[in-house]
Amino acid sequence: MLITRLVGTALFLRVANSCKLSKMGCDENNCRNMKRNLTYLSQQHAAELDQDLFNDYKFSVDQLMELAGLSVATAVAKVFPASSYNSTLIVCGPGNNGGDGLVAARHMTGFGYSVAVYYPKRTPKPLYENLLCQCEKFGVKIIETLPPINEIKDQYKLVVDALFGFSFKPPVRDVLKPALDALIHSGVPVCSVDIPSGWDVEKGPGTEAALKPELLISLSAPKQCAKPEFIGDAKHYLGGRFLPPGIIQKYNLTLPPYPDQEQVVEL
Ligand SMILES: *[C@@H]1O[C@H](CO)[C@@H](O)[C@H](O)[C@H]1NC(C)=O
Ligand SMILES: *[C@@H]1O[C@H](CO)[C@@H](O)[C@H](O)[C@H]1NC(C)=O
Ligand SMILES: *[C@@H]1O[C@H](CO)[C@@H](O)[C@H](O)[C@H]1NC(C)=O
Repeated sequence: MLITRLVGTALFLRVANSCKLSKMGCDENNCRNMKRNLTYLSQQHAAELDQDLFNDYKFSVDQLMELAGLSVATAVAKVFPASSYNSTLIVCGPGNNGGDGLVAARHMTGFGYSVAVYYPKRTPKPLYENLLCQCEKFGVKIIETLPPINEIKDQYKLVVDALFGFSFKPPVRDVLKPALDALIHSGVPVCSVDIPSGWDVEKGPGTEAALKPELLISLSAPKQCAKPEFIGDAKHYLGGRFLPPGIIQKYNLTLPPYPDQEQVVEL
């Protein structure tokens, strides 16, 4: 069984490499197969994998959040460089996805962006209070109210969606609805952290009115809603380079290798 999987992985890596190496002549079939063999986690497996990292591998939330947020900032900077997309709004939700957004906000200031954070439903836990404190000390502007939707475009070139993550279950709470509406209707390119907010983690956007991010950064492993049939031609990166070999084995993960010391890999 293991041998079969290893062979499968080796094959995957070869295909992934040939796609990367010959972008011009990227054989359509190979690329499609590469995507077909990529693992897409169910909501339940995503939650179990997360718990394993904490319980079996003794990671703390802060550790993983730091690496996740750094990957988000890195992928955003690759696709939307600060030189053209300087002014960024990061919309943070109350959970870990929002925490990833707060970490990304801090790193993005270091990457040359001018960053504002909108964090309407704050979590009264030291972890989040500390991240917010760090944001402020790094020059992130914490805004208490969103500009009207038609004015967001005048103030921001880019929006990072750190509202909901892989534990999201509808419906969207009233207090967070204006934030989601702003993401959907502002007309500014959106980068979603792990899950495009409002989407079903397994079944994707659901309606035509759903958020359509330009960039999705999957963390640790893509979830089912990140399949090409759902995200269309959005750019897709994988980040969160912290999966132990035992987890890759336990969940039968087929993921591309990270190049060199990179925090992210394009899928
Ligand atoms: C995808 O995985 C299956 C089973 O693991 C394997 O038989 C197939 O050859 C793989 N395809 C590619 C293109 O790697
Ligand atoms: C982005 O804007 C800030 C504030 O206006 C400025 O200090 C910084 O140099 C800009 N960064 C880039 C990459 O242009
Ligand atoms: C991984 O693969 C093994 C062997 O095929 C299977 O028994 C197990 O249920 C799989 N685990 C997951 C999480 O899919």
